[in-house]
Amino acid sequence: MMELDRVSVAFGEALALREASLRIEAGARLGIVGESGCGKSMLGLCLMGMVPDAAVVSGAIRLNGRDLAGASEAVWRRHRARDVAMIFQEPMAALNPLSRIGDTVMEPLLVHEGLSRAEARDRAIALFEEVGIPEPAARLRQYPHEISGGQRQRVLIALALTCNPGLLVADEPTTALDANVALRIIELLVRLSETRNMALVFISHDLAAVARATQTIAVMYGGDVVERGPTAQVLSAPRHPYTIGLLGARPGLGDRGRGADGRRRRLVTIPGNVPPLFDLPAGCRFSGRCSQEIAQCAGTRPVAHVLDGGQEASCHLLAPAAPGRAGAVT
Ligand SMILES: Nc1ncnc2c1ncn2[C@@H]1O[C@H](COP(=O)(O)OP(=O)(O)OP(=O)(O)O)[C@@H](O)[C@H]1O
Ligand SMILES: [Mg+2]
Repeated sequence: MMELDRVSVAFGEALALREASLRIEAGARLGIVGESGCGKSMLGLCLMGMVPDAAVVSGAIRLNGRDLAGASEAVWRRHRARDVAMIFQEPMAALNPLSRIGDTVMEPLLVHEGLSRAEARDRAIALFEEVGIPEPAARLRQYPHEISGGQRQRVLIALALTCNPGLLVADEPTTALDANVALRIIELLVRLSETRNMALVFISHDLAAVARATQTIAVMYGGDVVERGPTAQVLSAPRHPYTIGLLGARPGLGDRGRGADGRRRRLVTIPGNVPPLFDLPAGCRFSGRCSQEIAQCAGTRPVAHVLDGGQEASCHLLAPAAPGRAGAVT
């Protein structure tokens, strides 16, 4: 239903996304992972037609077959909330601290759906019930600072659902939450996706969260999608050195990613840092940081190699043209 076809997002010479391609089928759940700055939010914003004004977008962004990449703001506005809605990475930015929660959630129902105040209130209460907010009628009168982080995230989910979108993009919806609260939010998003046949793009640093929430996964590095495939398969048998590094950088899926202090860990321990966008190598973005680098990596961009079971990885080591090194990544 929604597809990115070789979409690039350029800030001058620097590419925040480089020919990223993805398909999101109706009702399917796709995870996007990768370190900070690798382009996850930018990819989500492409699906909403909300890349910053300073960026130049190329490629095709298709919604039900129609290319919206060059579409005007007026056209995008017709699709936003109805066809694709987003839970933004900064939760407080989406909730006006001076507005009662009920007014925030009722606004799109009054404006876009043309409901009366009484109808909008009934719909808001029904949405709050659907997302598991207790005593919904009383909550409508509260302000964002009066409720917990977990309840706020539920309000944002309700807000995103007001116009019954076919696709929900959730950008780091659990990152700011305690582990148990995060787990409840993941369960909610999966249930909503199933009961509403709503597609979900779940963006997260947290591989354990993505493992629970999604069926397929795309791993990003430096604006490239470097590996993709069925979530369980990619996480159990990663083929790209970056994905292997990410998995090595976390303490195993079995312990749900908690550290000794009980808090969830982030993906931060691959040696080195992601270089700034304008300093990324022209070939494989991960060259310079990859422990298995060979001669062509820095200068030649690897193509995606199709592996068994729908898995794909873009790495020269998987190419038949890398004599003596094929199969080095296993
Ligand atoms: N308005 C902008 N102007 C220039 N560069 C930008 C702008 N917005 C984002 N970028 C750059 O685009 C790249 C991708 O950013 P993005 O926010 O998508 O990363 P991310 O993967 O979501 O990171 P995080 O995990 O920290 O949320 C970053 O290098 C960022 O600095
Ligand atoms: Mg982000």
